[in-house]
Amino acid sequence: MAIAPKALTVLALGLALLCASGPAAAQNCGCQSGYCCSQYGYCGMGDAYCGTGCRSGPCYSGGGSGGGSGGGSGANVASVVSDAFFNGIKNQASSSCEGKNFYTRSAFLNAANAYSGFAHGGTETEGKREIAAFFAHVTHETGHFCYISEINKSFNYCDANNRQWPCVPGKSYYGRGPLQISWNYNYGPAGKAIGFDGLGNPDRVAQDPVIAFKTALWFWMNNVHGVMPQGFGATIRAINGALECNGKNTAQMNARVGYYKQYCQQLGVDPGNNLTC
Ligand SMILES: *[C@@H]1O[C@H](CO)[C@@H](O)[C@H](O)[C@H]1NC(C)=O
Repeated sequence: MAIAPKALTVLALGLALLCASGPAAAQNCGCQSGYCCSQYGYCGMGDAYCGTGCRSGPCYSGGGSGGGSGGGSGANVASVVSDAFFNGIKNQASSSCEGKNFYTRSAFLNAANAYSGFAHGGTETEGKREIAAFFAHVTHETGHFCYISEINKSFNYCDANNRQWPCVPGKSYYGRGPLQISWNYNYGPAGKAIGFDGLGNPDRVAQDPVIAFKTALWFWMNNVHGVMPQGFGATIRAINGALECNGKNTAQMNARVGYYKQYCQQLGVDPGNNLTC
């Protein structure tokens, strides 16, 4: 993805740590984070606790607004991405930022409802890591939700060799939205999947916050979700590896890692291994 402002690295390095909000609140029956409260009110893991009748915690049937899919119930997206978490990021953008009145938690949750695999399919810890990773990249790409569109709009990101998703004359496929989706070969299929004309009307991404978050989650589920188990470094490679990995831009890579570690700490999960690329 094209990063919105090319000078974001500076912002990233000077970032103050957000207040750590700690692990998810205690369960109804007092289970520690990651355990299910069974239909009988006991804490544990596995079918007897997380299956039928599970009252709280990472129940298999989900119930969380992100929906459930795959092998594990993952994290409850709506409770992990709390107002405090979302606004803790956005509050660091200056009030003059174009993104300030555009990106909202409810637009994110609305979009996430269409991607039930996001933060699901693994353990609750893995789900929280995925949420931390997603928002780390979003923070970096948008400058804490400051930018909607890439600052320098003079490059049109048209790969004319791509015949499947041909550029429409006069349209530019520069970075827009939370992950700064770029290039005709991303706008085309994203629009088709989400339900708008990505090639003919790429500006929709900068006008509708739900569509904006859907493009980010579309890109994420198609390119990043699957590499989460390899560690955060693989997610950087998937998003901007050609420009940042293998020593190409260590400062930007490190900025992303810094946000990821910070958000993992806030969500009460270990960041795992292989953080760089
Ligand atoms: C904007 O992007 C164009 C094309 O990539 C580049 O030639 C130009 O130098 C950039 N302008 C600025 C101010 O960075």
